[in-house]
Amino acid sequence: MNKKKFSIVTFGCQMNVHDSEKMAGVLQEQGYSFSCDPKDSDLIIFNTCSIREKAEQKFFSELGRIKTLKKKRPGLKIAVAGCIAQQGSDEILRRAPYVDFVFGPQNIALLGDLVKGSRTIATEDNPEIAEIDLPVRRTGTGRAWVTIMYGCNNFCSYCIVPYTRGRERSRPSSNILREVRGLAEEGFREVTLLGQNVNSYRSDLDFAELLRAVNLIKGIERVRFVTSHPRDLSDELIEAIRDSEKVCEQIHLPLQSGSDRILGLMNRRYSYDDYRRKIDSLRNNIGGISITTDIISGFPGEMSEDHDLTISALREICFDGIFAFKFSPRRGTRAALMENGLSDDVGSRRLSEVLAVQEAITERINKGLESSIMEILVEGVSETDREMLSGRTRTNKIVNFKAEGLSIGDLITVRILKSGKHSLIGEVV
Ligand code: SAH
Ligand code: SF4
Ligand code: F3S
Repeated sequence: MNKKKFSIVTFGCQMNVHDSEKMAGVLQEQGYSFSCDPKDSDLIIFNTCSIREKAEQKFFSELGRIKTLKKKRPGLKIAVAGCIAQQGSDEILRRAPYVDFVFGPQNIALLGDLVKGSRTIATEDNPEIAEIDLPVRRTGTGRAWVTIMYGCNNFCSYCIVPYTRGRERSRPSSNILREVRGLAEEGFREVTLLGQNVNSYRSDLDFAELLRAVNLIKGIERVRFVTSHPRDLSDELIEAIRDSEKVCEQIHLPLQSGSDRILGLMNRRYSYDDYRRKIDSLRNNIGGISITTDIISGFPGEMSEDHDLTISALREICFDGIFAFKFSPRRGTRAALMENGLSDDVGSRRLSEVLAVQEAITERINKGLESSIMEILVEGVSETDREMLSGRTRTNKIVNFKAEGLSIGDLITVRILKSGKHSLIGEVV
């Protein structure tokens, strides 16, 4: 008998990408086989994101489109997972009665029961999540995601994540280290430790100690981690990054705004000055570190002076890159109820300015890399040019290059020939 096939459509952050790998692992154990084509699957899972309204709309329009496929093939099962599922299972089943089951990010372990049809909704809080190790079907790019903690306790006033992913829970360090050792044996060279706020990881080890322990694992050459919260970035952590030769010279440290007043309203619990001092310490301790950030434009009550402070922060700090978003009110969060909301136009205009200011900075930084020599890890064929291979520097910059006889996971040295906004072009030396 032919095995049943499944496919997963993933929206959202790295956490969701990795959750999809876990869903695939669970389904393979259930005797399903992976398919990259939803049209030819017996089960389609949408792993959704609710961080901003746009992400939600994108999912609901895809969900609408799948209806015709279900009509043609009534045996097809459709499931909705992820952050929208966690918050709105009833709404999903009401808007799309052809959905077979809905489950949240804390209940991937129940997927085996869900496909058997024993229930249709699994969105309960799961305090055991950090103790359960699920099978993972990883996509082979030489790099692997490893969850170190679940949930978030920060309740930044704009953010939906604490409501969709639940309370912060750290995995036991022995489980994490066992998983990373296994990955090294499988041939992975790079791991990225994942959590909404990895700096507050705490089991028998804290995050700095965990990094030092991962650094000792033979076979792993590069270690990264996302995401850091500026308030929890300690001196001990900066020292651990500095001392651990495998931990890459790179950090993603979301600033959100350059204005202390707005940071207060966002419940970020640091000032711009605190942030600035951490950046100085990172740069003083870790030579060549590349720093990226997130910015939200148009937060409720943001005045043009606040926006100007964000622009001057970008000019002062000179990030390697940023992700910038227009504020999007999320139901159930405090910011959604705040007064002095800005018009869409003002938000959009400020966002464009933020992006334009940063673009010039990124271009200038990347230009400065031309003719330098860098180590990159080969990840596969380039997404923008199928004739080229693609990989990343330790500083997390994408380099495309032409070469033959290389495999995914190889560490090679390239010279940068040309720089662009989003990637670099190199030649193997
Ligand atoms: N835990 C991570 C990632 C959170 S989501 C962190 O703390 O950085 C990624 C980014 O989305 C956030 O950093 C923020 O910049 C943005 N974001 C979150 N909620 C948002 C909202 N309601 N509107 C606009 N941007 C938002
Ligand atoms: Fe959201 Fe803040 Fe938690 Fe990040 S730290 S996930 S922005 S609440
Ligand atoms: Fe989106 Fe949930 Fe991640 S809301 S950004 S998928 S934690």
